[in-house]
Amino acid sequence: MGYSNTNRSAWISIDHHALKHNLQKVRLFSPNSQIMAVIKANAYGHGLIKVAHSLNSANGFAVASVSEALALRRANFIHPILVLQGYKNREELQAAALNNLRVVIHDPSQLALLQQIPLSKNLDVALKFDTGMHRLGFPVSEVRKIYQRLNQHPKINPNCWLMSHLACADNLRNTYTNRQLSLFKQTTQGIKALRSLANSAGIIAWQDTHLDWVRAGIMLYGASPLQNDQDQDNAGLQAVMSLYAPIIAIHRFKKGDALGYASTWTCPEDMSVAVVACGYADGYPRHAVSGTPVWLNGCETQLIGRVSMDMIMIDLRGISANITDTVELWGKHISVTRVAYAADSIAYELLCHVGNQCPCRD
Ligand SMILES: Cc1ncc(COP(=O)(O)O)c(C=O)c1O
Repeated sequence: MGYSNTNRSAWISIDHHALKHNLQKVRLFSPNSQIMAVIKANAYGHGLIKVAHSLNSANGFAVASVSEALALRRANFIHPILVLQGYKNREELQAAALNNLRVVIHDPSQLALLQQIPLSKNLDVALKFDTGMHRLGFPVSEVRKIYQRLNQHPKINPNCWLMSHLACADNLRNTYTNRQLSLFKQTTQGIKALRSLANSAGIIAWQDTHLDWVRAGIMLYGASPLQNDQDQDNAGLQAVMSLYAPIIAIHRFKKGDALGYASTWTCPEDMSVAVVACGYADGYPRHAVSGTPVWLNGCETQLIGRVSMDMIMIDLRGISANITDTVELWGKHISVTRVAYAADSIAYELLCHVGNQCPCRD
């Protein structure tokens, strides 16, 4: 028999009410925009199809690849779907047209494919240009020319969107976002096309970036997109994914005893310690430091010592606990952003890793 993640002791649960609640928050933040729910990378590890069902009332979905979009079409979703990386070859281009996907065009190689392939059906596109992220997109100087070229293409629908992506919107003090916004406005001025710029940080903190379509990702999953904001409640968001694992051993140690690999943590007094069956093989961040918060039996306590492959140790001082008690590694009590911060990472990464490693018990 092959390996299955159901062999793991740690598990996640996904709160679908919280997903809907967070979508409602996106609506409140951007009442005049259409909402694209970003559900790429298996809905940030939360499960593509189930999440799409819960976010059914979004105006559209955004995914990274044509194959993710086709999975949604196979599951009978008829929403507008934006493919953020667009098509990479002729098969994907044809499939996009046949399945009514809106593909992002960001690179000359995609324009070349458009010239080469006789499309059997008309195609919806979004022209992406670079206002400062310097990842995907045409230079602003080429936008008008390419837009015109797309508009004149007989197989491209005359409803091309214009879009770009924000690089620093998570930092409220960084004026780069204003520079990107004014470049965006300047570049698109006078062009009658729908426009899209804002990610979650833009939605929460930069109202002028909302425009016609907002693209909400991380905030739908209940994590704050803002730098140094480790409290998901600040924007009224609710945690969607919880990560749990059982206690499998409890020890009593003496002052001075050192714990775990490399003996990085030393007991400051005689104390009890629990071993919890969750580690980096479950997607829990290997670099989470001693002091990373965890939740047990109504109390916050801390990770101590190094994270190992399938286990961590936690501080039981002041807490009564038994073998098989369940520990919340993140979720309703401990925001994933706090854990990410303690591991020098970001919530996005933790959610994707754990979501793809641990079984889900809804
Ligand atoms: C092009 C694009 N738009 C929107 C988003 C959503 O961003 P966030 O999860 O920060 O809301 C992403 C995610 O990385 C993206 O790549």
